[in-house]
Amino acid sequence: MSIQSRMDLTNPSPTLPGGVLSALQGLPGRFIVRGHGGRCWDQFDQTYIDYICGYGPIIIGHCNAEVNQAVIQQLELGIIFPSYTTLHYQLNATLKRIFPYTDCCLFMKTGSEAISAAIRLARAFTGRATIFRCGFHGWHDAFISPYTSWHLFEADPFPPRYIPGIPQDPTAALVVSWDGEDFQQLADLFQAHRPSVAALILDPIQLREPFEENLRQLRKLTEEEGALLILDEIKTGFRVSLNGVQGLYNIKPDITVLSKAISNGFPLAVVLGQPKIMGLIQSARIMGTYNNELVSIAAALKTISILERSGSITRLWELGQKLIDGTNEILNRYRLIEDIQAVAYRWPCMPALWFHQHSERAQNLKSSLINELARHGVLILANHPSFICLEHNKQDVDDTLAAMDAAVLSCLTTINNQ
Ligand SMILES: Cc1ncc(COP(=O)(O)O)c(C=O)c1O
Repeated sequence: MSIQSRMDLTNPSPTLPGGVLSALQGLPGRFIVRGHGGRCWDQFDQTYIDYICGYGPIIIGHCNAEVNQAVIQQLELGIIFPSYTTLHYQLNATLKRIFPYTDCCLFMKTGSEAISAAIRLARAFTGRATIFRCGFHGWHDAFISPYTSWHLFEADPFPPRYIPGIPQDPTAALVVSWDGEDFQQLADLFQAHRPSVAALILDPIQLREPFEENLRQLRKLTEEEGALLILDEIKTGFRVSLNGVQGLYNIKPDITVLSKAISNGFPLAVVLGQPKIMGLIQSARIMGTYNNELVSIAAALKTISILERSGSITRLWELGQKLIDGTNEILNRYRLIEDIQAVAYRWPCMPALWFHQHSERAQNLKSSLINELARHGVLILANHPSFICLEHNKQDVDDTLAAMDAAVLSCLTTINNQ
């Protein structure tokens, strides 16, 4: 049965809930029906170079044959049993080898729930309640940020906002946002909340430059305050380096949270820590029906083995840098570089097309350029990290740059004709 005949996409239901992924931006009525490597296709067989990559999980490429084979093999054996299996132990051992500061794993399904588990463990271990948070940590009540945007490369120009549906109750006061920039403010916060801070949880992409120095300062400060450092490596793990930001800068967190790239798109999140912390899982009653599900464990083992092949992550950096340099050359040529820039969202493996927050011209061009890029076969995010996968290649980058040139020209021509 063909993909098109399985679903009627000529008249998609207008009542589908929003979700993260809806119809293609700029291409109403077009939906992705299949993917392969670094590309995906809509129901009319139009091809797109995909830099959204599922918002980060696709690290090798869509529909990878080796990962699929591992998954099919597991499907034939069964996917959820009353005990751990050798696969769980294998993945635990693999993660211990890659993340040497940790010893035990808690397997879960989504990043948001793994963050909630990490927070509960930190509170249980320290006997303290307050959490300092920095960056994006998912959608759960206490951790969706009203203070800064989901994550920003520049400082947030907007005032704090109320998120409907989240009670403004005392638990909200136990979670304090820090912007990743002002260390004096952080020191003051520690002082104001001493000695009740259980942990600082950091999404590394929110931390400002000088990154390494700031990361070390955070580690030192948390140690001095008796608070845990939780590294939320959901975006950075297996992407900026195999062992994430902590491997790149040799930083020792107390708890690590991984997800996204660990299993090339299969739903898996992992909390990692020392036994003295992870031993509290049972008394803290952290459990879930699907925690032991095996298809994503099989996918993770295969994904990690592919990533461990020499040089794979270096390629993500190299292609990302090529995309950034080429894009900036085009933006410079069209005299747009003051308003729009391609940047490494801290690391070139996560390039971002950045429309400056304070530039009216940039804000006016934002959606038209993204839409025009989609029409030219490139799916990329605005003011958000985009993602390179291993199966993107030089030709994809060259095709992207040609599309960028045409898309910019088309947007400027439209503006000039208005
Ligand atoms: C750093 C970080 N933490 C947590 C999350 C939440 O993960 P999930 O969407 O799987 O709940 C995300 C998702 O983008 C993330 O980037």
